[in-house]
Amino acid sequence: MEFMVFMILLLLLILVPIFFLFHHKSYNGQLPLGSLGLPMIGQTIGLLKAMKTDRVEKWIQERITNHGPVWKASLFGHPTIVLHGPAANKFIYTCEGLTNTQPPSLSRIFGPKNVMELSGNDHKRVIAAIVSFHKVEVLKQYVAKVDEESRHHLQMHWHGKHEVQVQPLIKTLTFNIICSLLFGIERGPKREKFLPLFHDMVKGLLSIPINLPFTKYNRAIKARKKLVPMLIHLIHEKREALKEQNEQGDPHEDLITSLLSIRDDNGSTMMSEEEIIDNIIAVMFAGYGTTSVLVTFFIRLLANNKSIYSTIVREHQEISSNKVLEEALTWEDLTKMKYTWKVATEIMRVNPPVALSFRRAKQDIEYGGYIIPKGWQVLISLSMTHMDDSIFQNPTMFDPTRFEKHAPSPSPPPFSYVPFGGGPRMCPGVELAKIETLAMIHRLVSAFAWELIKKDEPFKRVPMPEFDHGLLVQVKPLKETMVSCEA
Ligand code: HEM
Repeated sequence: MEFMVFMILLLLLILVPIFFLFHHKSYNGQLPLGSLGLPMIGQTIGLLKAMKTDRVEKWIQERITNHGPVWKASLFGHPTIVLHGPAANKFIYTCEGLTNTQPPSLSRIFGPKNVMELSGNDHKRVIAAIVSFHKVEVLKQYVAKVDEESRHHLQMHWHGKHEVQVQPLIKTLTFNIICSLLFGIERGPKREKFLPLFHDMVKGLLSIPINLPFTKYNRAIKARKKLVPMLIHLIHEKREALKEQNEQGDPHEDLITSLLSIRDDNGSTMMSEEEIIDNIIAVMFAGYGTTSVLVTFFIRLLANNKSIYSTIVREHQEISSNKVLEEALTWEDLTKMKYTWKVATEIMRVNPPVALSFRRAKQDIEYGGYIIPKGWQVLISLSMTHMDDSIFQNPTMFDPTRFEKHAPSPSPPPFSYVPFGGGPRMCPGVELAKIETLAMIHRLVSAFAWELIKKDEPFKRVPMPEFDHGLLVQVKPLKETMVSCEA
């Protein structure tokens, strides 16, 4: 059976590009320059290689030089139009003729009702429900929780260690924060059961989607099958708790409770159980790798740049000096970390955690004098505008002051700085990512200094940046008693 499915998939993967190869002939003269290359493979290997060496901009720039700012290629099994510039970013993020379809292999792990798969009114309804939990007014009350998770993490995984692998540790911390805030799963055996299943799903998402026994993809599908009943149980528990509180409890206690509480005008729940399951899995995935990449780059930068490190330390010492030892961070404290957020903003300009945005044309669309045929992919690389010297002066220079209100260079035009995307599909997790990053950096610089063990430890984009050795650092505690919380 598995073999049959594999053969059918293989046949489809070969036939679909061939179909497009012949089908596009009717657009002769209206398609941009470029080449679709070999069926199925196209230029995918070249792009994957460029991603692995973090040279996507260079790879794209070479093709822009040859073909112009709009060009065609075959990528990941689909004919694709690649675009560049703020107008292209605006187009991809706001054009209603484009849809966000994910490869079927991904929706099998996330579930077919996840927000990234939905469009039109369904997308509006589900994203509104997710956004309602991620508003600043709601998230403000969770600052102490994020802070407590960060302190506990440092106590468990950094204190007493000479060396740590930053990236996997920060991933675990991000996972724990999301479990606590979004799912309402506190530390303990339940959370421990979720972590390996989630890891298997993440590994499967980033693997070749062949569902045969012992493949990573197969393990990911099995992990989803085990996770779903656990999530159903969790949802039932939260529904009961809501009933017991006579629906007077806090509807924003966690994301699941929040999604269960949202009602339409007739008082009926707006999201089905299936939708809640698929979306908490998708939100977990969307929030996990991204924030941990940002914090990992931040930790690397502080080891490499003494001047930025000193300014950051001063900002955080000032905040600590107004608090008693071990007092939890508050929202007001975070609002004082202005320089820290500017540094994070500049890190995301140079190394955006999400590198590429894909869409699919729902119909033939005209763009820049060319036709994007129905069914074709459209692609932008986020860092192309971030590293464009007509938008950001000296783009290779790391300079957080460029994001100051009164910076000497003009502020970038709309849709040119897009680490969180834009338009109706803009990341709903911006504020949560900010809270996590600021709280983690505060606790780190208050308790430790660190040095990179390998000065230029390389990373690959697979598709998110992954350091070859997890970013190995040597850790030096600043004060032995600084962090203490219950294990
Ligand atoms: C530094 C951290 C983060 C970065 C750089 C980031 C980046 C992005 C980007 C670029 C997109 C849009 C992709 C596209 O349109 O092609 C996106 C979408 C999304 N992000 Fe984030 N994200 C971050 C953190 C988070 C967090 C913490 C959460 C939630 C817990 C989250 C949840 C989502 C969701 C659900 C979507 C899909 C929205 C939709 O399709 O309507 N993200 N993110």
